[in-house]
Amino acid sequence: MKAKGLPFEPYRIKMVEPIRKTTKRERQEILKQAGYNVFAIPAEKVTIDLLTDSGTGAMSDAQWAAIMRGDESYAGARSFYRLEGAVRRIFGFRHVIPTHQGRAAERIVFEALVKKGDYVPNNIHFDTTMANILVRGAHPVNLVVDQAYDPRAEMAFKGNMAPEKLEAFLQRYRNRVPLVMLTVTNNSGGGQPVSLANIRAISSICRRFQVPFFFDACRFAENAFFIKEREPGYQKKSILQIVREMFSLADGALVSAKKDGLANIGGFITLHDDDLATRLKHILIIGEGFPTYGGLAGRDLEAIAQGLEEVLDESYLRHRIEQVRYLGSLLEGAGIPIFRPIGGHAVYLLADEFLPHLPREQYPAWALTVALYEAAGVRAVEVGGVMFARQRGRGKKEIFPRLEMVRLAIPRRVYTASHLEYVAEAVINLYKKRDRIRGLKIIEAQEPLRHFTARFELL
Ligand code: F0G
Repeated sequence: MKAKGLPFEPYRIKMVEPIRKTTKRERQEILKQAGYNVFAIPAEKVTIDLLTDSGTGAMSDAQWAAIMRGDESYAGARSFYRLEGAVRRIFGFRHVIPTHQGRAAERIVFEALVKKGDYVPNNIHFDTTMANILVRGAHPVNLVVDQAYDPRAEMAFKGNMAPEKLEAFLQRYRNRVPLVMLTVTNNSGGGQPVSLANIRAISSICRRFQVPFFFDACRFAENAFFIKEREPGYQKKSILQIVREMFSLADGALVSAKKDGLANIGGFITLHDDDLATRLKHILIIGEGFPTYGGLAGRDLEAIAQGLEEVLDESYLRHRIEQVRYLGSLLEGAGIPIFRPIGGHAVYLLADEFLPHLPREQYPAWALTVALYEAAGVRAVEVGGVMFARQRGRGKKEIFPRLEMVRLAIPRRVYTASHLEYVAEAVINLYKKRDRIRGLKIIEAQEPLRHFTARFELL
């Protein structure tokens, strides 16, 4: 029987990887050794790994074939020109600068543009963009629509930036804003899409104030799929047409190819501005590599070029989005509190509602990731107080982000409906015993991005 409402996988499986099982007792010992941080757990000890959808996807036969054609020349490799051609065709910008992953693109662009004391608006910054701005002594600013913080607000494009907030911000701080960014889909806010109408509005404000406008575009194809599905006037357009229209409104994009590039590593910067491209390439040479490989092997460039073409396939995207919705609907059907509407790459559990007995200071979303691993070997990621709290004042009092969530990110083309059913069952069983889940305290942490390495103790 076909899982209800879910189209079947639009691919056959040619290669498999075993999933190893662990006992609860083993997992308790592993957690203790990992300092109750799921990032420190060996992946072999994870049954279903929903930590991230980044670099964890399965490549296609055509991508593996492309890898064999990788040209490993230091300069001017054929594989670079293939990637450049694919990116130009899809995104429409003149310059294509490969990087080893998305955050390298961020570091390079911010090194060229962002000074101490500057502000960088976004709908909501992802953790690495936030950190790369903070380390330059500048301020990341989130100007998403207010509904984005209401986990129950139903809105077709809940990733939209509020144009009036951007306008007011630029009126006040124009001279200290070197660029405006827009993250599609909005990962930190539930994987929600941004509409073309919103992109147009943001673009026109940026043009008026003469501020460069860049996308953080890792999940551009998923965003385009939502536009096709939900935005009036786009139902008959192809995904490629929608993607081209989105990017025609911007000055450039920073892309992690580990998501919609369908590759296991890689990223790129793409833009029109010749002078800025020259400066970026100079910074690239110092830290990443020569501009025709940018920290990647020729074979990686091939895998990305091929992946960018495949991700535009509508039957792939439909299955992808429906798969995420399938997991979400199983959970919702059992009364589990989740962020609505269900986003593009993940289902987000509302940990503060799931664990009302735990105060924010005891990191309920983190506690839920620990409990979920302990109970079922399922690895998820916290998107809440540990990831995003900011410390203020001498007492380093924590200011918590508005949302306290656990993200169940679905790797691309990796898991089937029955894996997702296992995950849903694990979460539902845990919900029945939720009052037994304990909070945690941090005993070791390194800022920024403390969630990757922090150690905890159970309370
Ligand atoms: N921007 C967004 C919106 C992201 O989600 C990520 C990565 C990056 C930038 C950085 O890209 O990892 O290639 O350096 N997100 C992953 C995640 C890590 O789990 O959501 P990267």
